[in-house]
Amino acid sequence: MRVIVTGANGQVGSALVKLLRAEGTQEVKTITRENCDIADRVLVRRLLGSFQPDLVLHPAAYTYVDQCESDPETAYRINALGTQNLALAAAQVGAAMVYVSTNAVFNGRKATPYYEYDMPDPESVYGRSKLAGEEYVKTLLNRFYIVRTSWVFGPRPTEGKLNFVRRMLQLGDERGAVSVVDDEISNPTYAPDLAAAILQLVQTEAYGLYHLSNEGPTSRYEFAREIFRLGGRSQVKVTPSKLADFPRPTPPLYQSALHNFAAATNLDIRLRPWQEALEEYLRSDR
Ligand SMILES: NC(=O)c1ccc[n+]([C@@H]2O[C@H](COP(=O)([O-])OP(=O)(O)OC[C@H]3O[C@@H](n4cnc5c(N)ncnc54)[C@H](OP(=O)(O)O)[C@@H]3O)[C@@H](O)[C@H]2O)c1
Repeated sequence: MRVIVTGANGQVGSALVKLLRAEGTQEVKTITRENCDIADRVLVRRLLGSFQPDLVLHPAAYTYVDQCESDPETAYRINALGTQNLALAAAQVGAAMVYVSTNAVFNGRKATPYYEYDMPDPESVYGRSKLAGEEYVKTLLNRFYIVRTSWVFGPRPTEGKLNFVRRMLQLGDERGAVSVVDDEISNPTYAPDLAAAILQLVQTEAYGLYHLSNEGPTSRYEFAREIFRLGGRSQVKVTPSKLADFPRPTPPLYQSALHNFAAATNLDIRLRPWQEALEEYLRSDR
């Protein structure tokens, strides 16, 4: 099996590469921003043409959500056109493809978790650009998996971007108190758990759309409290606040928890509760 992984320095990409190597996958080729800008159509086609993958795993994305609002062209160039480039090249070499998408394709106004059959209605540029990526994958490929996930945390091979867990720990250590919104709700998802579920999914050849997140919706506030409790910092004071208290360029996404209906019902693929995953992350990534 020959597998290409995009975004190999990111949280999900690096978790996929680690698992593939541990499973002894014959050939794994990694795409990072350094060796191939996915927005470069010619380069992407050349790279896939020479490697001839059986499978393309595509978690790479422009994930700076607020910057997407001020720079929509970059968001669409990478998230939509970059995905189009990969889907076209995958079709040309006959590879199946996994596209990692997001809870931000929804408008966040549903009171309960979103199912795969709920209608997307993104309000942010980021969400729209990721949905445009989904459309390319659906129209250009027959053998595809679209995997939507939410609130990803996990080890990252390169320094730089801090995930929510690391950001909370840093703020807690610096200030001893944090204010965290309690009206933004979704499922925290541990990148290695998501990677394992994706690799289970690709064994099934049950192509289609899936919601894969760790089990259990929560608010940022409750998530932060659990981070400090499990991270041995129960002394950090966590005060609840509201999204309206922190105006951001990106429209607020109130309730965007994902319900894993399709993979659980049809394929018996489930992710554990996020609290268990968080505990493992905090133990392993100190
Ligand atoms: N993080 C979340 O909370 C979250 C939630 C829902 C869905 N998702 C989706 O899950 C996927 C993985 O997220 P993640 O947290 O692993 O993201 P991440 O850590 O930000 O990784 C994304 C990777 O893509 C790379 N990349 C960006 N632009 C590129 C380009 N033009 N060419 C090649 N590589 C490029 C980035 O490289 P640089 O670091 O050099 O920019 C980065 O290594 C994304 O598709 C995202 O939309 C994430």
